[in-house]
Amino acid sequence: MAVETRKKMNVPITKPSLGEEEARAPYESIKSGWVTQGPKVAEFEKAVAAYVGAKHGVATTSCTTGLHLALATAGIGPGDEVIVPSFTFIASANAILYTGATVVFADIDPRTYNIDPNDIEHRITKKTKAIMPVDQIGLSCDMDPINAIAQNHGIDVVEDAAPAIGSDYKGHRTGSNAHQTVFSFHPRKVITTGEGGMITTDDDALADRARKLRAHGMSVSDLDRHTADRVIIEQYNELGFNYRMSDIQASIGLVQIRRLPELLRIRIEKAERYNRELPEIKGLEIPYAPPYATHTYQSYCLRLTKDCTLDREELMTNLLRRGVATRRGVMASHLEKTYTDRIGTVSLPVTEEATEHTMLIPLFATMTDEEQTYVIDALREELGSA
Ligand SMILES: Cc1ncc(COP(=O)(O)O)c(C=O)c1O
Repeated sequence: MAVETRKKMNVPITKPSLGEEEARAPYESIKSGWVTQGPKVAEFEKAVAAYVGAKHGVATTSCTTGLHLALATAGIGPGDEVIVPSFTFIASANAILYTGATVVFADIDPRTYNIDPNDIEHRITKKTKAIMPVDQIGLSCDMDPINAIAQNHGIDVVEDAAPAIGSDYKGHRTGSNAHQTVFSFHPRKVITTGEGGMITTDDDALADRARKLRAHGMSVSDLDRHTADRVIIEQYNELGFNYRMSDIQASIGLVQIRRLPELLRIRIEKAERYNRELPEIKGLEIPYAPPYATHTYQSYCLRLTKDCTLDREELMTNLLRRGVATRRGVMASHLEKTYTDRIGTVSLPVTEEATEHTMLIPLFATMTDEEQTYVIDALREELGSA
């Protein structure tokens, strides 16, 4: 039965998987009065660090603030350069600008959409202080060559893993493969705390500094002062920020991190169904799966090939008319005015090609089989069989 003649469904691009348990989770924090930087934040940090296999977790208000904090604790500032892909949500590059450092965009690998290690090498100068690889759409970057470049040049790696909690690189969870890794818990990500982020690292000194800087640079935490049996007068030795996650958010995060393996299992199952069925449709290329990493499928990203009979905007419009939400694929940050004003024109041909021809289609843990069939049928009816 054609989608046009069957009952119209409305399939959103994504929907967070939140239930009764998450709704009840903040109760304890609220009743106790410890609504921020209390025991639930500490517990959530431990749970995420344990899950990814890192020594420390430092919770923040978002991935963006986490990236800024990670760069700040690494000592990055004016006069420094940080290499980042342009093919990412603009927040990755913005976090570099917040430190006063210069953004240096690198191109991507056409298959994985992640930063191309060869292009990183070409862009290193005496001023380069860090590389910010981005695990785009939930697929870990090829971290070994990136870490090797960083080591050779004595520079830092801050991995933007906003969509990648739960992905693996060569059997090691993302969060344990770089000096610092930063996750997002925005509702479009695999697990959510409403807004939120976390840095994971094995470096004791960096974690300690990040904890101080996220709370105005205060020398002692609220929790430590509260539990001390003596008066502690705090000090402010360097400029900090307010990037504190609340215990209300962390209580929700504790439920979500426990549910993460199951949420991932469901996502991967649904992505595999797309992987099986979508190659039968004309003009669609499914995501590439490299042998070294697993994908969280935070989003399902299609590439429209030259055989595609509709251009992307036309296809997105027709799908919207049928009730299927889509989004353009990942943006090219270097083409936005924020960056053209600052760094002028940069040529990144692989990024520019990918940003024009990619499209995200609905994928979320609570998506029903019927909804997924509806999306696949809508694509088939718009584009025809391969
Ligand atoms: C790659 C990447 N980095 C950073 C961010 C920013 O995350 P947040 O909204 O938690 O600040 C996002 C959000 O979409 C992202 O996809």
